[in-house]
Amino acid sequence: MTTIALITGANKGIGFETARHLAATGTTVLVGARDADRGKNAAAALSEAGADARFIPLDVTDADSIARAAADIDAEFGKLDILVNNAGIAGRLDGDGKPSSTALSTLREVFETNVFGIVALTNAVLRLLRRSEAARIVNVSSEVGSFAMTMDEDSPMWPMAAIAYPTSKTALTMVTAMYAKELWNTPIKVNAANPGYCATDLNANTGFRTAAQGAEVVARLATLPADGPTGTLWGYRWGATGADEYGILPW
Ligand SMILES: NC(=O)c1ccc[n+]([C@@H]2O[C@H](COP(=O)([O-])OP(=O)(O)OC[C@H]3O[C@@H](n4cnc5c(N)ncnc54)[C@H](OP(=O)(O)O)[C@@H]3O)[C@@H](O)[C@H]2O)c1
Repeated sequence: MTTIALITGANKGIGFETARHLAATGTTVLVGARDADRGKNAAAALSEAGADARFIPLDVTDADSIARAAADIDAEFGKLDILVNNAGIAGRLDGDGKPSSTALSTLREVFETNVFGIVALTNAVLRLLRRSEAARIVNVSSEVGSFAMTMDEDSPMWPMAAIAYPTSKTALTMVTAMYAKELWNTPIKVNAANPGYCATDLNANTGFRTAAQGAEVVARLATLPADGPTGTLWGYRWGATGADEYGILPW
C-alpha cells in the first residue's frame, strides 16, 4: 500500500527538500502550502522529477484550512502515514531583538505558526495517522530551543538573545515529548528534528548547511523503523564531527 506523507510549508526550503527525499522512496507526497501558486509550482517541480506529488492548500494558522485539508486527505486516501510539521516563521525583530524590546504581538504571531498551528493540524489528522500501520510525526524544531545549549557559554547558541523564535521551538520540543507520551503504546513515533543551520529564506540564506542536508534529518525521522526512538530531539549537532555529527540533542 502506498505511503502517504503530508509536509507543511513544502513549497520551498527544508519542507520542499523533505518532500523530494520522501518522494524518492516511493512515497506519495502532499505538498502543503498556504499560497496556491507557490504550492502548485513546487508540486509540479517534484512531479517533473518523477515524484507522486500533489499540492494541498494548507495554512496552519487557519482552522478552516486545516479542517479542509484533513477532510480531503480522508476522502482521497483514508489514512495518513507521515506528518511533517515543517511550516515555521522566524518572526519580526523588534528593536534590538532582545527580550525587553520584543512586542507581545510578535511572540503571538510566531507561536501561532510554530506551536499552535502544529497542535491544531496534528489533532485534526491524528485519526488518519492512527489508521496507518506505523505512522511517523516529525516536528521540525531547532537547537535554538535547547535550554542546555542556550545556557552553555561554549555553545554557538550562547550569543542568541531573541525570544520569539527560540521559545517557540522550546515549546514545540515539549509538545513533541507530550505527543510521544500520549502515543507511547502505539506504533506511532513522534520526534522533533534539528536540521542544523541551513541556508533558507528563514535566515536570509545565512546558514552553513543546505536545505537538502537539513531535510535528510527530517526524512530520516519520518522513515524510522519499528525499533526507532520516539520523543527525542534528534539531528545535526553543531561542532560535532564524524560519527557524533548526528544524534540526540539535549533538551
Ligand atoms: N533554516 C534553518 O537553519 C532552520 C534550522 C532549524 C529549524 N528550521 C525550521 O525548519 C522549518 C522550515 O524552515 P526553512 O528554513 O525551510 O524556512 P523557509 O524556506 O522560510 O520555509 C518556511 C516554509 O513555511 C511556510 N509557512 C510559513 N507560515 C506558514 C503557515 N501559516 N502555513 C503554512 N505554511 C507556512 C512558508 O510558506 P511561504 O512560502 O508561503 O512563506 C515556507 O514554505 C521551520 O520550522 C524552521 O523553523 C530551520
